[in-house]
Amino acid sequence: MIQLLLFAFFAGCIYVCYRLTYPKQWREISVFPGPPNIPLLGTAVPSSQLDVTKSVQKWNRTYGSPFLMKLGPSYLLVASKAEQIEPILKGTTNITKGGSYRFVEHWLGKGLLTSTNEQWHHQRKLLTPTFHYKILQDFLHIMNEQSAVLVERLRERVKSQTGKPQPFDVCPYITLCALDIICETSMGKRINAQSSPTSPYVQGILEFTEVATYRATHPWTWSDYIFENFSAMGRRFRQSLNTMHQFTKDVIKDREAAREANGATSKGDEPTMDSEIRKKRALMDFLLDMKQKGDFSSQEVREQVDTFMFEGHDTTATGIEWSCYAFGRHPDIQLRLQEEIDSILGPDRSDFPTADQLNEMKYLECCIKESQRMYPPVPYIERTIVEPVDI
Ligand code: HEM
Repeated sequence: MIQLLLFAFFAGCIYVCYRLTYPKQWREISVFPGPPNIPLLGTAVPSSQLDVTKSVQKWNRTYGSPFLMKLGPSYLLVASKAEQIEPILKGTTNITKGGSYRFVEHWLGKGLLTSTNEQWHHQRKLLTPTFHYKILQDFLHIMNEQSAVLVERLRERVKSQTGKPQPFDVCPYITLCALDIICETSMGKRINAQSSPTSPYVQGILEFTEVATYRATHPWTWSDYIFENFSAMGRRFRQSLNTMHQFTKDVIKDREAAREANGATSKGDEPTMDSEIRKKRALMDFLLDMKQKGDFSSQEVREQVDTFMFEGHDTTATGIEWSCYAFGRHPDIQLRLQEEIDSILGPDRSDFPTADQLNEMKYLECCIKESQRMYPPVPYIERTIVEPVDI
């Protein structure tokens, strides 16, 4: 009985302290409707990611936009209407990313996705030219080669079946292909993820992406110390991180040594749009040029490369997977797509498609954009509001 009273007393003290230190803005936004929550623990979220999305959609229908939910001790105001989101995204002050981005920070540090304020502006100014359409075109041969490997692997998978064809999950095949493409384009390094899916680096990335997404919605995993020291998942998470960081550091070291041996300097190697020299250069080369000029430190180069690795594989893989799903659900549209591709590429398929031919595929472009609208690969983005904003 005494133990129970002591427990109730301490729980009460913690709750009173929590209410007294409650930030003013939390008190203000608590007027918004939302699903019930338990003090300190927050709104009950389901354990699987798919169910989290379904619950958010259900709450959005029940409470309207914006609605309020609590994750652990922090508040999330969830808005789904463009006119409510626009003032935040168009403004220049509320650019600090949301709290859940800290789970990818373990891998990405303060790269372009996770940085804010001056640091973000500085990085953005330096990195925007590396996304120029013409530079992206130089990577087309890598995308074509890796896509050919994907098609071959899918063909073999279908051929290996005996009897009536059985459905199988194409997602792991597409994800590995996306990893091969992003690794070669951003680091200039072939990892052959499609032929060696069990390599520690590939496994590390796949595991990290899954665990980071899980942690964002499960408050009991939020303490790094407890998670990494007292759970098997946390120990594996730490191990994956070490493997991934070491891999990027080694690639940077090798690339720097190769540049030194070839006498590459930042002079004349600017990411100019017409320079022939940019051919066969990976994103990392542009970053190493910037490092030579003193714009980035070694750690910052590593953080940007890791950011591209993370941002560039899961998003594109998910987008392709959903497009395949949408085309499969609409065979009539698939047929029109086939007709468009056949009419542009013709019967001789010995060469890979060129950038101009891809640009001609207008119907394909519309269909991919529509499937991304219907099934967005990044269904939520999050901001920490630091300045009052009227939505
Ligand atoms: C279908 C493909 C993709 C989708 C749907 C997508 C979606 C997004 C979204 C929604 C954001 C904004 C996140 C936020 O503001 O909180 C973002 C940011 C970003 N993405 Fe992507 N992305 C895709 C492909 C890529 C690729 C291929 C790369 C790199 C090679 C990339 C690199 C980045 C970076 C660096 C940022 C941070 C930009 C900044 O904060 O200035 N993304 N992406």
